[in-house]
Amino acid sequence: MKVDLKGQTAIITGGSRGIGYGIAVALAENGATCIITGRNEERLKQAEKALQVLEPSCRGMHLQVENLKNAETLAKAVYEKYGRIDILVNNAGMTSDQLLLRMQEEQWDRVIETNLKGVFNCTKAVARYMLKKRYGRIINISSVIAFMGNPGQANYAASKAGIIGFTKAVARELARKQITVNAVAPGYIQTDMTEKMEQKAKDGILSLIPQGRLGRVEDVAQAVLFLASEAASYITGHVLNVSGGLYI
Ligand SMILES: NC(=O)c1ccc[n+]([C@@H]2O[C@H](COP(=O)([O-])OP(=O)(O)OC[C@H]3O[C@@H](n4cnc5c(N)ncnc54)[C@H](OP(=O)(O)O)[C@@H]3O)[C@@H](O)[C@H]2O)c1
Repeated sequence: MKVDLKGQTAIITGGSRGIGYGIAVALAENGATCIITGRNEERLKQAEKALQVLEPSCRGMHLQVENLKNAETLAKAVYEKYGRIDILVNNAGMTSDQLLLRMQEEQWDRVIETNLKGVFNCTKAVARYMLKKRYGRIINISSVIAFMGNPGQANYAASKAGIIGFTKAVARELARKQITVNAVAPGYIQTDMTEKMEQKAKDGILSLIPQGRLGRVEDVAQAVLFLASEAASYITGHVLNVSGGLYI
């Protein structure tokens, strides 16, 4: 898909690898200046260098999404440097799987803080600058697990379902200001996150996917690119499943 994002600035949280990096590539290929965030400095530097080949203005910046102050400082710095923030992709996320009765309080808190509070923090930090320009595209990365549940992922499923409620509420709040807020719910995508699953579990999942394959990072990136484009200007509060039919 080809769209014109020249002159636009995008922030992609967790853009140093996996789905987030794939999204940054798709946006940069279409002309956007991408600010990717992550925690691991080495990975961030590598990803920044690779993105600059596509669009020299791309940058990597350190961000702990669970820290509101950190998110506000980053949003301010980006706005002051580039004069606008057009696109925010809330992608940073993590898992810490355990069956309910064995799940530690710390596992619950860390997943909710990163996946759900992180989306609140970054959206709150960036929305004020989008409001100034009366334009914005906010795209939150949820998961089909929000709809289907999964044993051992009560924390993750709750965080990803929370993102959907958040998306719909904020979509209503910002609709009059030409800011759209949507979510993408991927199925199983080949990244570090799914790499750590046992082969038996992966085979089990594969048998449940009507299209018979795991997703590619590009499958998610193209959905995000569409929602960030002019073509999607009348779509808000929507959840787009990208799961090869795993969730229908
Ligand atoms: N892979 C799948 O099958 C799948 C399916 C459905 C939904 N998703 C969602 O898609 C998103 C990306 O997944 P992925 O598979 O690409 O994950 P990944 O390969 O594990 O990458 C996660 C990214 O998030 C960043 N991150 C994690 N915790 C963070 C924190 N507290 N503060 C800031 N950045 C943080 C990581 O930065 P560092 O490199 O610095 O650690 C990294 O860039 C996640 O929200 C995930 O839940 C994935």
